[in-house]
Amino acid sequence: MQENIYILGIESSCDDTAAAVLHNSKVRSNVVATQKIHQEYGGVVPELASRAHQQNIVPVIHQALREANIDKKQLSAIAFTRGPGLMGSLLVGTSFAKSLAMGLDIPLIDVNHMQAHILAHFIDNGDNEMPQFPFLAMTISGGHTQIVKVSSHFDMEILGQTIDDAVGEAFDKSAKILGLPYPGGPLIDKFAQTGNPKRFPFTKPKVGPMDFSFSGLKTAVLYFVQREVKENPDFVKENLEDICASLQYTIVSYLMDKIKNAVKETGIKEVAIGGGVSANSGIRKALRDAEEKYGWKTHIPKFEYCTDNAAMIAIVGELKYKQQLFTGLDVSANARMKF
Ligand code: KG4
Ligand code: ZN
Repeated sequence: MQENIYILGIESSCDDTAAAVLHNSKVRSNVVATQKIHQEYGGVVPELASRAHQQNIVPVIHQALREANIDKKQLSAIAFTRGPGLMGSLLVGTSFAKSLAMGLDIPLIDVNHMQAHILAHFIDNGDNEMPQFPFLAMTISGGHTQIVKVSSHFDMEILGQTIDDAVGEAFDKSAKILGLPYPGGPLIDKFAQTGNPKRFPFTKPKVGPMDFSFSGLKTAVLYFVQREVKENPDFVKENLEDICASLQYTIVSYLMDKIKNAVKETGIKEVAIGGGVSANSGIRKALRDAEEKYGWKTHIPKFEYCTDNAAMIAIVGELKYKQQLFTGLDVSANARMKF
């Protein structure tokens, strides 16, 4: 008979306080408290994020256990995000996880947040096909933009990454220029639905074949808006859908160019995406179309596992639990954690 593995996952790397309970690869609960406070400031304020985590962490964990309908004594192990992320935020989840593991006398498992965005594909949703090794993963979030070759659960090699801003930042900073609140990525996506993607051409930045650059795009959007607003103060309001659609089209085709380069370079035709920007409708469609167009096998996460969540931390916890990859109670958070 299969062992009953219950993992509590805890995520606190940025501005979401999250907890989830996983039972034999299936999600029993997945609770996320998104901090609204940052909207007023147009971006995440680290000091405020740490304080909000302090307030949220106990209620969020209680809710995750309650929704999973289990007692904490049934937990097999505690998995937590050790890094990368904001130090003050990471410290809250790390300290809490250590204390709980010590109190319950169960194993503690440290998780790399970016690895978790990739391994979220191994959550058993009942109907999903899991990626076969080796596969390519493009992690696209507010803090990272990478193409990774995944040879096994814990053998990952970064093939290319951004040399400046992350793609989520490109969305959010462009949105800010357009007067949209933080985080602007989902709003650009929303307005893009009814706009003309070919109306305003933005040039794609040139860097290495599997690397990315987004700071030039943000500046191009700024200069473009400043120039047009001088002629017509209502330019943004009158053309918001077309600007968003054009911007999204540029970013999505840039991301697709990079995956195509990686497929060509490695010969691997199995491609997964992960991270907040994988919720974007443009990249989801482009990737789905690539199955027929290029003969790739693609993996697109369910919406709830795109942006930051603790179910992805818990699945890494379960995979590590099976290999007895535990960490000591003297572990500390690592803001710049690498694979
Ligand atoms: O993975 P995530 O929740 O946090 C980080 O680890 O950074 O990603 C957040 C990022 C934000 O930049 C947000 O604007 C972006 O994901 N995002 C989107 C969409 N949904 C979230 N960007 C474009 N289109 C979306 N639909
Ligand atoms: Zn993330």
